[in-house]
Amino acid sequence: MASRHAADQSFLHFAPTRVVFGLGAHKEAPLELRTLGKSRAMLVTDAMLAAKTDLVERVKKALGATCVAVFAEVQPDSPTSIVDRGAQLAREHGIDAIVSLGGGSAIDTAKGIAIAHTEGGSVLDHQGFQNLTRPTTVHLAIPTTAGTGSEVTRAAVLFDEKARQKLIYGDFHLFPRVAVLDPELTVGMPASITAGTGLDALTHAIEAMHSAQREPIADALALQAIRYVRRYLPTAVRAPNDLEARGKMLLAATMAGQAFDNAQVGVVHAIAHSVGAKRHVHHGTANAIALPHCIRFNADDPAAAEAYRDAAEAFEVAVDGLGPERAAHALADAVEAFVAEVGLPTRLRQVGVVEDDLRAIAEMSVTDASIVYNPKFAMDADLVLGIVQSAY
Ligand SMILES: [Fe+2]
Repeated sequence: MASRHAADQSFLHFAPTRVVFGLGAHKEAPLELRTLGKSRAMLVTDAMLAAKTDLVERVKKALGATCVAVFAEVQPDSPTSIVDRGAQLAREHGIDAIVSLGGGSAIDTAKGIAIAHTEGGSVLDHQGFQNLTRPTTVHLAIPTTAGTGSEVTRAAVLFDEKARQKLIYGDFHLFPRVAVLDPELTVGMPASITAGTGLDALTHAIEAMHSAQREPIADALALQAIRYVRRYLPTAVRAPNDLEARGKMLLAATMAGQAFDNAQVGVVHAIAHSVGAKRHVHHGTANAIALPHCIRFNADDPAAAEAYRDAAEAFEVAVDGLGPERAAHALADAVEAFVAEVGLPTRLRQVGVVEDDLRAIAEMSVTDASIVYNPKFAMDADLVLGIVQSAY
């Protein structure tokens, strides 16, 4: 069978974020900022984290005098009005760095703030891909969930409340300069968020592998991420204080993040973004529901099936003697069972989506930038409708 990794395939792999991993690693944040010549940081985090956990206080304490402002107004899905308010606060305090603390919404809000703080105006003025004219404000990201991978990617997904649409920003200037991965900061994550964000990481890894822009370095990162999710996510869900499982899941999220940042994602994310915009379903949960159905949709594409066979092996699915297409279906079944095993819903009808939404979700999905990289042609609302109907 012809391989996607033909000898003449050229690609560019770029992973410029410095990764600092370890128990207590958040205490390294001020040193990392000093190394970058920065001394006036604004901490960007969400109100829930500030109100219900001691994480914000712990990171503030670690930052000491380096922290000159705290913006604790992040909301789920990173609304653009909140981003603009954060950029205003950054200007008022004359900051020279941003430290984000939280899940994907906090990190993406911080990326948006970095854009508006550097370029001026509203973040809405700078939409799109490779529009930024210079490096953005230094950003050090400290994830408290293990899933989005946003700490090592060039993308930010914001929510335009007026248009009720998710906006994807992508730019070389959006990579956080440093990602601090501290397993201790993720132990308080509730089981549902642990599971949902973990499935986001698994989706990034599998989508990176089936992508039309698949490449070998991203594949290696994705395969290790898939192994870690399979082995450690159920433990992280069952035993929240297990630091080994928490650490492996942080690494899985970061590796999957670097994989998809280079290889891109596909129809699963297009659907998840649309389901999220329509019904505010948690991003990872939306991916978890869509993923098996999208694998089945793509399974008759030879290159995708070959990737799924590799992914299935990493996911500990018995594929000996199975051809790639049958291995792909075995992977889809195993993923669906895994989603249920970690306690997540497996149907769109279970998360507030109604049958009347399906056509709109399909139409929104074909305009999503992610769908371009799907291995099989999917930019047709009727095709996507078939997938979302099967996921309903
Ligand atoms: Fe994602």
